[in-house]
Amino acid sequence: MGNAEDAAMTCAEACQAAGFAVEARELNQIGVDELRAATHFLAVTSTFGDGEFPDNAALFWNALTAQDIPLDHLSFAVLALGDIGYDLFCNAGRLLDERLEALGATRLTERIDIDGPYERAAAAWTTDVVTLLAAALAEPPAPAPGAEPAGRERHHRVATRCTVNRLLSVADSEREVRHYEIDLTGSGIAYRAGDSLAVHATNDPVLVDALLAQLGAAPDHIVAGHDEPLGTLLTEHLDIRVPSRALQALVGARTRNASAAAALRTHAGSWCYGKDVLDLVRLADLDVGEVVDTLRPLQFRDYSIASSPLMHPDSAHLTVSTVRYTCGDRRHGGVASTFLADRGENLTVQLRPNHRFRLPDPAVPIIMVGPGTGIAPFRGFLQERQVTGASGQSWLFFGDRHRATHYLYGEELDAFARAGTLSRLDLAFSRDSETKTYVQHRMCERGADLFGWLRDGAHLYVCGDADRMARGVDAALREIVAVHGRLDAAGADAFVADLITSHRYVRDVY
Ligand SMILES: Cc1cc2nc3c(=O)[nH]c(=O)nc-3n(C[C@H](O)[C@H](O)[C@H](O)COP(=O)(O)OP(=O)(O)OC[C@H]3O[C@@H](n4cnc5c(N)ncnc54)[C@H](O)[C@@H]3O)c2cc1C
Ligand SMILES: NC(=O)c1ccc[n+]([C@@H]2O[C@H](COP(=O)([O-])OP(=O)(O)OC[C@H]3O[C@@H](n4cnc5c(N)ncnc54)[C@H](OP(=O)(O)O)[C@@H]3O)[C@@H](O)[C@H]2O)c1
Ligand SMILES: Cc1cc2nc3c(=O)[nH]c(=O)nc-3n(C[C@H](O)[C@H](O)[C@H](O)COP(=O)(O)O)c2cc1C
Repeated sequence: MGNAEDAAMTCAEACQAAGFAVEARELNQIGVDELRAATHFLAVTSTFGDGEFPDNAALFWNALTAQDIPLDHLSFAVLALGDIGYDLFCNAGRLLDERLEALGATRLTERIDIDGPYERAAAAWTTDVVTLLAAALAEPPAPAPGAEPAGRERHHRVATRCTVNRLLSVADSEREVRHYEIDLTGSGIAYRAGDSLAVHATNDPVLVDALLAQLGAAPDHIVAGHDEPLGTLLTEHLDIRVPSRALQALVGARTRNASAAAALRTHAGSWCYGKDVLDLVRLADLDVGEVVDTLRPLQFRDYSIASSPLMHPDSAHLTVSTVRYTCGDRRHGGVASTFLADRGENLTVQLRPNHRFRLPDPAVPIIMVGPGTGIAPFRGFLQERQVTGASGQSWLFFGDRHRATHYLYGEELDAFARAGTLSRLDLAFSRDSETKTYVQHRMCERGADLFGWLRDGAHLYVCGDADRMARGVDAALREIVAVHGRLDAAGADAFVADLITSHRYVRDVY
């Protein structure tokens, strides 16, 4: 989502302003041999998937681990971005830090692992690194006159309105998917097709009241160490949905429910799946202050923008699957998706640019794979190609559960196909047939054509579920390349690696 990129570019600008000769690059764009010639290497990386490197760093990591190059001359520092809710917190940063040490490089400073919002901690790291570099270099170059960090474009929170909230799936079908239009008039937000929008939601007031009742505290209660009343903390600032590890540990230690205590000791993660803070707090007699101290800050949720500014300059459209499910004796709802669905007329948003997820020149063919809510950015791409009258061919693979209930934007997609904006449309409705049919099955069926498009320079985009769909699509892509390019597995991987480094295979998956 560009967090690591933002932190890295801010650091590079600070180094430049301090007079160091610095070059900022995506990790995949660095040949490991180039590290032999460098004196200092500052790396910022997030972690993706299950403890994996992000797409634009994975090839670098493969190369760095493929051979033991001596790096005794190199001084390095690693800043790791992540989310402590994942099992392998900041794993990519940790692996990189350990590998560089194993190759003989020397740490300029200890690695910092950042959970969630990164700006403040990253700025402190940058200040430390610049100071250490200045001290390490005997004669640091003088800052260029008037050189100040250029200041990267900042995207601020904007209070706005949701003007359209429309059901996309058929009413009362098993999964609710909604279309939203967020008013950007006068907001100063100028988005591009492919960007995302962060929604700063508040917690469900019914859930907040239930939690207050369970804790036996009033909304105006002030918890030691906090300025704002408890009701405001629980509504606006703290995550009361997904139980933090600290809360799991607290409840595990204090509950008199033996089976819950055992589960929290042995397999807390899977046992807590679907439970929220109230479910856990009910299991033990806890003081309000100690519960609040375990809660994590409430974070915004990202949504891929489903429109093009060329067609909708004053609004950003979103395609959101509403998280609603039953766990035990209670109905649960996701923070942001139910906020949008049920209470989101007035909301706060923030632009999250996605510099890698961009349309190529209008003449270049594109292949889009976006089942479920993954359709969102491709609706934006198709609108853009329609407005510009792009000559390049466009091919969409879409899928969902049933055609009758979840052909999201079906009429619009059919119209794009009739108008020729969409040259090819392949659909995979997984539950309309005896055996499951997914988008990657359609890709394999059309493998010869798909490989031909890629060989002719098409860009491939994937959006939607990261855990299952994106992995399946990636495996299918490699198989298609191997079969139709007549390559062995290594050759197919090299072909795909070339697509990745040239930014012709990009993913917006979650
Ligand atoms: C770059 C990016 C782009 C995205 N784009 C989109 C998009 O276009 N459309 C979209 O819909 N989403 C998108 N997402 C996902 C989105 O950001 C949210 O994660 C999603 O809407 C859920 O948020 P929430 O606040 O409603 O749920 P949360 O409060 O975060 O709750 C989610 C949690 O609920 C639990 N849960 C969910 N379902 C069940 C279940 N059936 N049974 C038990 N437990 C369950 C799980 O613990 C899950 O982690 C995107 C994410 C990213 C990172
Ligand atoms: N982790 C989970 O178990 C889980 C489950 C559902 C949704 N989600 C999340 O919910 C959000 C919204 O989901 P969504 O609207 O995009 O819909 P989705 O639940 O991802 O489903 C869209 C389509 O993808 C299919 N699908 C399932 N497994 C697949 C695979 N391995 N390869 C390719 N396609 C596959 C689904 O089929 P079938 O459902 O018929 O198999 C369905 O037809 C996403 O963030 C997603 O990650 C997570
Ligand atoms: C699909 C997905 C998987 C993630 N997996 C991990 C993980 O395994 N470990 C971790 O610490 N953080 C994980 N994160 C959190 C990100 O690393 C974190 O949000 C980071 O700030 C993103 O930075 P970026 O925008 O530079 O990618 C994941 C985030 C997403 C969306």
